[in-house]
Amino acid sequence: MSEPKIIIIAALAENRVIGNKNRLPWNVPAEYEHFKSSVQNSTMIMGKNAYENFETEGFESVKIIVLSKSLGVEEIRHPGGAILDNVDVAMERARSWGRTIFIGGGASIYALMMPRADEMWLSFIPGTHEGDVFFPKWEESEWEISRTEQHPGFEFRVYKRTRR
Ligand SMILES: NC(=O)c1ccc[n+]([C@@H]2O[C@H](COP(=O)([O-])OP(=O)(O)OC[C@H]3O[C@@H](n4cnc5c(N)ncnc54)[C@H](OP(=O)(O)O)[C@@H]3O)[C@@H](O)[C@H]2O)c1
Repeated sequence: MSEPKIIIIAALAENRVIGNKNRLPWNVPAEYEHFKSSVQNSTMIMGKNAYENFETEGFESVKIIVLSKSLGVEEIRHPGGAILDNVDVAMERARSWGRTIFIGGGASIYALMMPRADEMWLSFIPGTHEGDVFFPKWEESEWEISRTEQHPGFEFRVYKRTRR
């Protein structure tokens, strides 16, 4: 069986802000719908903070793995989801499910997983936004843009890894 693809999925402002006070700094419904439809039937790995305010409705087909050393397994609100305290164990579990693996943030998980990612699906929100967490800087020479789409309120780009 071929290895599932590992895809970072994020929305970021021009100043690379992705969050403010543990919330999204913007309300761009088309981007949220795009995110939702992109991850259907996948496995999504996210950090404890991102999961805290994550609305699980509409993500019933998604298998969610939350990374946390402090949450207990009983704190997962998502049926079939898992809370794991180790990234290698999380990756092993995700691979065993054989679905595309999306990395759903937040900032610490994007930074942790970027070296392992094959693609980045990034939504660019116009303008700068106030925030306290940022998408990590990526090495431009390691990525190429394979697709760009204009949507209401955001530009969507697929980045593919060219080398590690
Ligand atoms: N714009 C977007 O696309 C987007 C997407 C997702 C999230 N966000 C935003 O990002 C922000 C949250 O990001 P964040 O960086 O503060 O937090 P985060 O990455 O969501 O979660 C951090 C927590 O994850 C756990 N963790 C991290 N690395 C781990 C490891 N190696 N092993 C086990 N557990 C690990 C730790 O939980 P414990 O302390 O419990 O150990 C850590 O405190 C929010 O503002 C959210 O709205 C934005």
